[in-house]
Amino acid sequence: MEFPLWFVYSSTWLLTLLLIVKGIQVRRRKLNQAPGPKPWPIIGNLNLIGSLPHRSIHDLSQKYGPLMQLKFGSYPVVVASSVETAKLFLKTHDITFAGRPKFAAGKYTTYNFSDITWSQYGPYWRQARKMCIMELFSTKRLESYEYIRVEEMRALVKGLYASSGSQIMLKDYLSDVSLNVISRIVLGKKYLDENETKSSVVTPEEFKKMLDELFLLNGVLNIGDSIPSLACFDLHGYVKRMKSLSKKFDRFLEYVIDEHNEKKNGVKEWVAKDMVDVLLQLADDPNLEVKLTRTSVKAFTQVGGGERHTLPTVYRSDCERNNETAPVAPMLVPRLVREDCKVAGYDIVAGTRALVSVWTIGRDPTLWDEPEVFRPERFVGKSMDVKGHDFELLPFGAGRRMCPGYTLGLKVIQSSLANLIHGFVWKLPEKITTGDLNMEEIFGLSTPRKIPLIVVLQPRLPAQAYFQ
Ligand code: HEM
Repeated sequence: MEFPLWFVYSSTWLLTLLLIVKGIQVRRRKLNQAPGPKPWPIIGNLNLIGSLPHRSIHDLSQKYGPLMQLKFGSYPVVVASSVETAKLFLKTHDITFAGRPKFAAGKYTTYNFSDITWSQYGPYWRQARKMCIMELFSTKRLESYEYIRVEEMRALVKGLYASSGSQIMLKDYLSDVSLNVISRIVLGKKYLDENETKSSVVTPEEFKKMLDELFLLNGVLNIGDSIPSLACFDLHGYVKRMKSLSKKFDRFLEYVIDEHNEKKNGVKEWVAKDMVDVLLQLADDPNLEVKLTRTSVKAFTQVGGGERHTLPTVYRSDCERNNETAPVAPMLVPRLVREDCKVAGYDIVAGTRALVSVWTIGRDPTLWDEPEVFRPERFVGKSMDVKGHDFELLPFGAGRRMCPGYTLGLKVIQSSLANLIHGFVWKLPEKITTGDLNMEEIFGLSTPRKIPLIVVLQPRLPAQAYFQ
């Protein structure tokens, strides 16, 4: 008996489909996944994640434990929220967890994942890290920028002195100082200074706005990153904003590179003065394993600006609360599990997104005595460091993808914090008590205050100390 051709084709398709579905089911049944809430179809566990995802994840970890399996849309997510599990992700299985998920922000705002943060684990990323260690953030290079830090610190102290007695928004001063230091080191100019940027394609206001937008868009929870079938609708309008921002950045970075090339051309004993110079020099190096293109130079240049917001937030962590209960980054930048693995006896499949809840570790009562209380002296006499060795305190992450700019970040923070504390007495405005302060935060790459802090300061030292 002969069957019609259409029947043969459709039965073959159906059978194949059934086998695939069966195969997935069998595989799933066999997997021993970490505990976690049961996911819904399509949305997974996104219904449990509120507007402050780090707090939702913290609450879930209290229920399901320090290694938890979630699902965001169609993507599996594992969360480490104790010293032991963070160590498993960032140390024991570091190389397996060294990928980064491909989010829209990486695609649209960093030249299709060409910067260090969002680039995939591989030769390109390895070379970029090597450049950071050997060239961009080497001890010698950072020493050569010391005069910039000194000048900007003096300008900060002078500016604060001038505002003695009046109410000020502290974060404005702090983000300006970090932006000035970083833009001088990276771009060779203060892009907040009208006189220095007369011929620039962006005004200081536009420059600030672009960086604010870059930082915000790199930290948002974009629904299309979890539910790809909804990506085309761009429900929050984030992708539209990313595309528009990338155009503005490209125009600016093209200008920066042209300007640097013009200065370099024709100069015999040319010496690199800022990071763009160093990157352009590296781009000319024929011996590099992976060629550095103009696009990579632009992508690497952009990262410096994006980090400026971390500094004011660090002060917040250091000065207002403590670094454990209000860490700079409540969760480290998401990682991607590169191959199937077993962690603490649980199966984690390749492609799973991995989060480390630094927020939860900072609130662990077995690690910290009264973690909610601001008590900086708890660190006195402790050898604990912030450089990725002590997993109780991970402001810069740990392992292969740890922050490569931490030496610069630490230098700026330590010197400015010391100046703020040594140079001034800090008070809240009249009739405001510490109990009146709203300590809520905004979620993103860092956790700035929802309502910025207003303070009044008085100098502590003789006037000449502020005008050196
Ligand atoms: C106090 C300031 C800073 C803080 C708190 C901070 C924090 C962080 C954190 C938590 C990560 C993720 C680490 C992980 O995934 O384990 C990171 C990554 C990164 N940071 Fe920073 N950072 C700071 C300053 C800087 C500066 C000044 C730069 C460069 C100018 C920089 C460049 C980067 C880059 C390129 C990455 C991605 C590394 C990779 O994926 O390989 N950071 N930072």
